Amino acid sequence: MTRRPYIVGNWKMHGTRAMLSEARAIDRAAQRHMKVEVALAPPFTLIHPIHREAEQISVGAQDCHQADGGAFTGDISATMVADAGAKFVILGHSERRQGHSETDALVRAKAEAALAAGLRIIMCCGENIETRESGSAVAFVRAQLKASLPAPDEALADVAERITVAYEPIWAIGTGTAATTDDIGEMHTEIRKLLVELYGEEQGGEARIIYGGSVKPENAAEIFAVPEVGGALVGGASLTADSFMGIALAAGEPTDH
Ligand code: PGA
Repeated sequence: MTRRPYIVGNWKMHGTRAMLSEARAIDRAAQRHMKVEVALAPPFTLIHPIHREAEQISVGAQDCHQADGGAFTGDISATMVADAGAKFVILGHSERRQGHSETDALVRAKAEAALAAGLRIIMCCGENIETRESGSAVAFVRAQLKASLPAPDEALADVAERITVAYEPIWAIGTGTAATTDDIGEMHTEIRKLLVELYGEEQGGEARIIYGGSVKPENAAEIFAVPEVGGALVGGASLTADSFMGIALAAGEPTDH
């Protein structure tokens, strides 16, 4: 089964209610591009307002706490974001790993909590520039993913549907310069192997692997033409309907694979 390309906007800490009109425009455009699955991860405060109005796109969160509730001032649980209308959560983004000292073990605990709350997850991974230049990017990403993804377990059903991996090299995020198609192809192939090792051919062979890091309408088509690229996690270029849907349009074009 070939899944539809998955194009996810990560609004990061951008967006007040004034941005709802942009979300509406994205939702309307998504209704005309049904070959692509379009999703938005706005700040927590906009999950419910966008979910309430959206007819086509799914809405997700950018993080969740690993506990279901309790004395955790300022935190928000997977159950809460699901209650607000979120269908998925982005976990392990490098901005959380770096800015909030999130370890692989913590990210894994969050992933397990999210799945238990009925959410899908987008598990981020990616190396920094020093690791890339030292030639150990593949080993680093494999180890990071192995320690962050939920452990294979009989209770873990529907991996292919519920787990997406986002490869986001840190040096490509917000820099305007995406990774080369060769680098993306190599890493996605390695991630596919790991997913099959962990979850088996049927599930691990089908889960989506998406790329993130300076994806824009101008470079989207060449990135989507790389084998094993099943979509994109888009930061800056997801903030306007025009640029975000330009990327979705490129994902809907037929490619050779
Ligand atoms: P960018 O961010 O598209 O602005 O590079 C991607 C991300 O961090 O998810």
